Amino acid sequence: MSSELDPNLIVCFNGRNIPLRDAHVGILTHALHYGTGVFEGIRAYWSDAEHQLFLLRPLEHYRRWKQNCGILRIDVPISAEHACDITLELLRRNRFRSSIYVRPLAFKSAERVGVSPDAEDSYAIVALPFGEYLRNDKGLHAGVSSWRRIDDNAIPARAKICGAYVNSALASDDARRSGFDEAILLNESGHVAEGATCNLFMVRDRALITPPVTENILEGITRDCVMTLARREMGLTVIERPIDRSEL
Ligand SMILES: Cc1ncc(COP(=O)(O)O)c(C=O)c1O
Repeated sequence: MSSELDPNLIVCFNGRNIPLRDAHVGILTHALHYGTGVFEGIRAYWSDAEHQLFLLRPLEHYRRWKQNCGILRIDVPISAEHACDITLELLRRNRFRSSIYVRPLAFKSAERVGVSPDAEDSYAIVALPFGEYLRNDKGLHAGVSSWRRIDDNAIPARAKICGAYVNSALASDDARRSGFDEAILLNESGHVAEGATCNLFMVRDRALITPPVTENILEGITRDCVMTLARREMGLTVIERPIDRSEL
């Protein structure tokens, strides 16, 4: 993520488009202490040839956001369609001319101590310049982590729940300190779940194989793109089934 963000960047905070420097939360905010937020990540790729940005399936991201906010009973008071409109407005107003990342975030925003959440919710949508997340010009070194993927009955991995990302942060930090680019997490059954920040595919006997959504994975939209393109454009067999560690 860019470390030098323009404080004049226009962001949407609770329905108002304001400069980033004015978008603050208090130190006692519930989500800051207890991880009670749900975020999304939407890429927009800049095309030099067409001189415009291409957002990757924004409506589906916003539908997933709203649906997963339901797990934490966070109310996002706008429709997925309206969130798309807000995003387009942010892209226009900030006059981006490079690839960007859109970060929607909804969270429990009451400022008090006590874990039990109440109905005070906030949301924000921030769009910022962003290059490649992982280098994709050569292969990555990925290592199986000693940290296990969180279980659906503890914190659902299918949603981008803020607190759940402690699991990814621990695995990711451990992997990098051990010389890897990315961690691969196993779930409590010992099956391969996914990377710290990405879904996982394996090629075996000419088939593309990926764990099903019941294996404690994020229900990835890129995952769905890959499966669709592999079937439709490349004529590959795509199989969703549990993957054993030894298959890797
Ligand atoms: C744990 C995890 N898995 C998979 C993904 C990929 O998700 P998507 O393709 O929907 O952006 C992410 C992205 O943030 C992630 O954090």
